[in-house]
Amino acid sequence: MPRIELTHVTKRWDKFYGVDDLNLVIEDNAFVTLLGPSGCGKTTTLRMIAGLETPTSGKITIGDQVVFDSESGINVPPNKRKVGFLFQNYALWPNMTVYQNISFGLTNIKEPRKLTKQEIDDIVHRVAKVVHISAFLDRYPAELSGGQQQRVAIARTLAPEPSVLFMDEPLSNLDAKLRLEMRSELQRLHLETGSTFVYVTHDQMEAMTLATKICLMENGVLQQYDAPLTVYGQPNNLFVADFVGNPAINFIEAKGAQNADGTVDVTILDGRKATFTPKGSLSLKEWYAQADAAAAEKERLHAEKAARKGYVEKSNKDTVFRYHVARVDDEEDTGEEGTLTDEDLVIGVRPEFLELSENGAMEGEIYSAMPTGMETTVKVRVGNFLLTGVVFGGVLYQIGQKVRLDFRGDDVVLFSRRNGRIITQGSLRIQ
Ligand SMILES: Nc1ncnc2c1ncn2[C@@H]1O[C@H](COP(=O)(O)OP(=O)(O)O)[C@@H](O)[C@H]1O
Ligand SMILES: [Mg+2]
Repeated sequence: MPRIELTHVTKRWDKFYGVDDLNLVIEDNAFVTLLGPSGCGKTTTLRMIAGLETPTSGKITIGDQVVFDSESGINVPPNKRKVGFLFQNYALWPNMTVYQNISFGLTNIKEPRKLTKQEIDDIVHRVAKVVHISAFLDRYPAELSGGQQQRVAIARTLAPEPSVLFMDEPLSNLDAKLRLEMRSELQRLHLETGSTFVYVTHDQMEAMTLATKICLMENGVLQQYDAPLTVYGQPNNLFVADFVGNPAINFIEAKGAQNADGTVDVTILDGRKATFTPKGSLSLKEWYAQADAAAAEKERLHAEKAARKGYVEKSNKDTVFRYHVARVDDEEDTGEEGTLTDEDLVIGVRPEFLELSENGAMEGEIYSAMPTGMETTVKVRVGNFLLTGVVFGGVLYQIGQKVRLDFRGDDVVLFSRRNGRIITQGSLRIQ
């Protein structure tokens, strides 16, 4: 079973960079999801690995085979890359039975030799069993439900035993309940087949629940490549923090400097004093020095690249993500950043870290409450700001009800506002 490696892979159309200098190692037997907003380069990445799209530059290896290398002119055709596909539009052949749909690809296999009728029959029955469609082999697609059709499509893809399986939003045509069901089927399939799965989705929940690792992209650029819970808990930057998680993370603007004991005294939410205590040891000064040095080095490398012959300037420029601070009157967000200093911070608080209790340190007022049975999503108004929280159980809150709140735990995230990057995690206490 192969491991897939992308080295400096770029795909551009004229000045538009669909995928920009992507470095990625997909480990053998991984279930990697390519996640990001529409147009960020997920499908292009997948198609390049599969051989359906030719990169502008870079190198791709699958197992020990170099399948693409712009420098040495290697470009292995898709049918020689031993990969399987499952696309969003998985059209089954309507005039063929389920059995014929699954076996069709197998009858076309010629290398290393043609399969016998018996071998094909065995394979069809085996994969049909895996996706629970053994009872429908004689039916036509029109006689199946959407979910059953989807499973036939999966069986058809699995039949030639691809060691790598690519899926591009394969569940997007299904209703919510079926999607959930198919998700767990896919998870099981991944274990049973031992194949490497690469799965494209724009649905962060799908990416979170299925993946062993999430590759989160934006504007063709890799933002973070980590296990789902790492992406959720320690997002590399404000964009990642915002993209992953539902309800979304709360961004609280903060201003403050570090004390000798390592804590950071900050002013948040219109003049409220709070203390951020880093989880580990932190020197903000050193952190900024390192971040600035890294940024300068990146700039230098970019200038070096730009000076090379044939370089094309990226027209779809990368910008620092503009986070949104929820306010009761949203107009106040003027969009003006002003000059930011090292004291300008953003604190990210996941909804589950908002703790409502009788003796919380800060006063707020219930702005809205949405109970789903298992949990209740509340928006709490603090001054002009709105903070989103999730409370477990069917708690009934009245709109306008006064509540008191704290920030729970030590996984609150501290970001630099200047460069949008994560500094550290820690606890946030109202003074
Ligand atoms: N053949 C093409 N010519 C020009 N631009 C393209 C082409 N294919 C894709 N793009 C652009 O590249 C970007 C990435 O596309 P894609 O990988 O399909 O995004 P997604 O993440 O939604 O799958 C998009 O902005 C898209 O418009
Ligand atoms: Mg796509």
